[in-house]
Amino acid sequence: TALTQDELKKMVGYKAVDDYVKSGMVVGLGTGSTAYFAVERVGNLLKSGELKDIVCIPTSERTKEQALSLDIPLVTLDTHSKLDVAIDGADEVDPSLNLVKGGGGALLREKMVEVMADKFIVIVDESKLCDGLGPGFPIPVEITPFCHEHTMRQVAALDSCAGCKPVLRMGSSSSNQPDGDDIAVTDNGNYIVDLHFEEAIKDARKMALDIKAVVGVVDHGLFCDMSTAVIIAGKDGISVKK
Ligand code: A5P
Repeated sequence: TALTQDELKKMVGYKAVDDYVKSGMVVGLGTGSTAYFAVERVGNLLKSGELKDIVCIPTSERTKEQALSLDIPLVTLDTHSKLDVAIDGADEVDPSLNLVKGGGGALLREKMVEVMADKFIVIVDESKLCDGLGPGFPIPVEITPFCHEHTMRQVAALDSCAGCKPVLRMGSSSSNQPDGDDIAVTDNGNYIVDLHFEEAIKDARKMALDIKAVVGVVDHGLFCDMSTAVIIAGKDGISVKK
């Protein structure tokens, strides 16, 4: 019988920890339904004594709570800015291993943590693979609440964002499906605008730089040239792209 999507997520989550996390390491813990299983595995291996002297940096309040519930020792970038490895999911992965992240709203802390890791290991099921970023999943942009409508217009007016439809995230910040009447607020007290594209983004690196340069933008969910390896779970088993 075919594995469920949850079983695929668990498979890659566990595999990433088993292959890349060793005793003594500083480890970045991602956010989302796939990273959840990697955090669970770290907790289990610490408890069984197979891993020792690990300290971890969570990328969201949700992950922090999960880690604390598993008695995983936590530190922050303020004291530990050099990570051995970070493990996280992604919303889309293109053939150059550029990512869209932030469907779960944690993109800023994820990027801050993952950019400091010697190895950034991405864990996905095969539904996340795409030929070009954009049409399959809107690009989340974290913006400061002050005059957010203005900032949204500035982003949408960029040449590299031509044709996008900007949608302010409503309800819970951890989903881009509007599920409430209030503007969603991130862990950092900011808003998120999701940029919907009908066509594949031609130059994700340029778009990433252009969006980041808008004053009022805090950061965005394009993670270019960051992934060390992507572990993919599919119906034929696990594969790795580097
Ligand atoms: C959180 O902000 C996101 O970047 C997640 O890492 C991403 O959405 C993947 O989540 P799932 O594993 O739940 O699909």
